[in-house]
Order: sequence, then C-alpha cells, then structure tokens
Amino acid sequence: MLKKIVSFLFPLKIYTVKSAVSKSLEVTWVNGELVLDSENTNYSYGSLQQILKHGLQAIGFEKIRKMDHVLLLGVAGGSIFKTLVDDIKFSGKLTGVEIDSATIEIANQYFKLNEVPNLEIIIDDAFEYVLKTTAKYDLIVIDIFQDTNMPNFLFESFFTKRICFLLRNKGFVLFNTMILDNKSNERNKKYLSDFNEADFSIRALPRVEQHNELLIIENLNY
Ligand SMILES: C[S@@+](CC[C@H](N)C(=O)[O-])C[C@H]1O[C@@H](n2cnc3c(N)ncnc32)[C@H](O)[C@@H]1O
Repeated sequence: MLKKIVSFLFPLKIYTVKSAVSKSLEVTWVNGELVLDSENTNYSYGSLQQILKHGLQAIGFEKIRKMDHVLLLGVAGGSIFKTLVDDIKFSGKLTGVEIDSATIEIANQYFKLNEVPNLEIIIDDAFEYVLKTTAKYDLIVIDIFQDTNMPNFLFESFFTKRICFLLRNKGFVLFNTMILDNKSNERNKKYLSDFNEADFSIRALPRVEQHNELLIIENLNY
C-alpha cells in the first residue's frame, strides 16, 4: 500500500529480470498502478492497456461481447484480457500465445493472470503457433514486440495470409504497431495496401499515442 502511495510521487521499481527476448522485464508502481515494462517501452497495463482498449472500442464492445474465441499473440502481463473480461464482460474462450515464459511468471505473480476465466496460455513463437493451430477465431490481436522492435515476419504476406485464414467470417484483426520513423510509416501503408478490399475492410486508427498505430482488419465474408 505504501509503495502504491509513494508511486504518485515517483515510479517505484519492485522487480527486474533479464530477458533474452526483451532485454529486461521490469515491474513498476507508477501513479498508483502496477505496470510491466521492457528496457525501453511499456509492455502491459499503463498506456499500452489504454491503447489496446481504444482499438477494442473501435471494433465495438457489443460486437466483441458476442464473440466466441479471441486469440492474443504477445501476452506479457495480459492486460487486454483484463479489459475484455472486466470492462467488456467477454465470457467466451481466450487463448494467449507468448514466446517468453518469464513474462507469464510475472503476469501470474504480479497481475493475477492465472485468475482470468476461460484462458489458455501457450508458450510458443506466434509464427509457429499460427501454422499449427486448427481453431478459427473471431478476433485476433497481434501485439508482438521485442523491446521496441517488431519482428519482420509480422509484415510478411505469408503470415498475414495465415492470420486471415484463421479468422472466422465477420471476424476482426487488431494489430498494434509502433511507428518510430518514416520507414515504419511506409511499412504500415504497404501492409494495408496488400489487402483485397472486396474481402476485407481495413483502417488505421488516428494515433492515440505518438508512436503507436492501431490497424483494424475486418473479414467481410459471411
Ligand atoms: C507489448 S507486449 C504484449 C502486451 C499484451 N498484449 C497485453 O495485453 O498486456 C509484447 C509481447 O510480445 C512477446 N513476443 C515477442 N516476440 C514474440 C513471438 N515471436 N511470439 C510470441 N510472443 C512474442 C514479448 O515477449 C512480449 O511479452
């Protein structure tokens, strides 16, 4: 409790561990809230949770509440699961895929991720997982970062085609991207221009945070 109060005056780091994927993982009290950060960016809770919530709002809470199965690629502390369950009252199935088991240990210990109902966590590379899974999903959230870096496979057409194949008719993809320079701006434009407009509706949400751009892809097929 004291740490929480002190954190309104200055951030209070309470746990740090080295990570091969994210350089470091840090749990910090900031303004009365516990957040998970990598070395150079916010990973879970805090502004990241607000950014993803904004994306879910753009899809529509009502629509999401009626969905059966949500897939999250990149779990870290799993803050979007809390938004889905606590704010949206989503009661369907949740699957999270995370490459770094250290984040899940932190998520369980500090953020009670293991208390989220109907949640299955799979420790795997998201790229491998999407090749293996036989399930179909109503919403696929892509939120994969290695510190501030986004792996190239996320923007390759092979991965995108597979993601679209795993999407149910009328399903959505919410893709959180980071824009740090003009190159990444062009990368996003090219990514969106590759979708067939007869089958998919695509939009980039106006930026909520300086460096994040949310992309929403809707499967228009019935
Ligand atoms: C921004 S965090 C995810 C935050 C989370 N979506 C939330 O709601 O709080 C990004 C995560 O992507 C994970 N990641 C990076 N590369 C990955 C990969 N190839 N497959 C699966 N997860 C990966 C990182 O370990 C990190 O935990």
